[in-house]
Amino acid sequence: MRTFLIAGNWKMNAGPTDAGKLAKEITSKWAGKTFSSEALLCPPYISIPAVQQAFDGTGFQTGAQNVYIEDDGAFTGEISTSMIKDAGCTYVIIGHSERREYFSESDEFIASKTKKTIDSGLKAILCVGEVLEERKSGNQEKVVEKQVNAVLNHLSADASDHFVIAYEPVWAIGTGETASPEQAQEMHKFIRSLVEKSWGKAKADGVRILYGGSMKPGNAKELLGQPDVDGGLIGGASLDADSYSKILEISESI
Ligand code: 13P
Repeated sequence: MRTFLIAGNWKMNAGPTDAGKLAKEITSKWAGKTFSSEALLCPPYISIPAVQQAFDGTGFQTGAQNVYIEDDGAFTGEISTSMIKDAGCTYVIIGHSERREYFSESDEFIASKTKKTIDSGLKAILCVGEVLEERKSGNQEKVVEKQVNAVLNHLSADASDHFVIAYEPVWAIGTGETASPEQAQEMHKFIRSLVEKSWGKAKADGVRILYGGSMKPGNAKELLGQPDVDGGLIGGASLDADSYSKILEISESI
């Protein structure tokens, strides 16, 4: 049986009070039930403790949405891997397209963050994906190859257990438009082939590749049903306890 990673990215939504409530709402739907997928929610930094508290003993995990590359010191506004670990997180989302676009994060910086995260013992979810014009001009694979290889070049095959890739076509994020299951499968297969070139088939087969971009209960079954789609990175729908829970439930049925 496949074990999926069903990750929610709450982005800049839900302060400690709302996040704690939402986390409790999600776990209450699973009270007394077990799941074999990994269930992960990534709230804003400031809400992590509230979510962590609500998740205590439930099997749900918390993750961070970003990280800085230094351990500590004079880096106003930044958060280190040791702080994220101390808060109980297991995963860090890195290189989300919103960070690439609004905060000008480069492939090199994203590679350093990914390496730092994995070296610290946390798991990294590296986000990659093309914008609409790149897809329209047929350059999506070229774009994604550059983004993936920029990071793979800084990692050794030993990192594979702590490395997840999320394919998030930018044109599908928050737009209600989703990549078709075929488009997702095609790109995921391509990404796995890139990992295989660097680390060999066994490692490539073990690396989880998530799909992100308007995933919701209505399309999750088809997307998660693709052989190279190993989970989801869910934005909007993860802010609704019913929708997130439903997607997790769907992953259990595949
Ligand atoms: P949406 O699910 O809201 O499209 O967001 C996807 C995303 O960016 C997750 O990181």
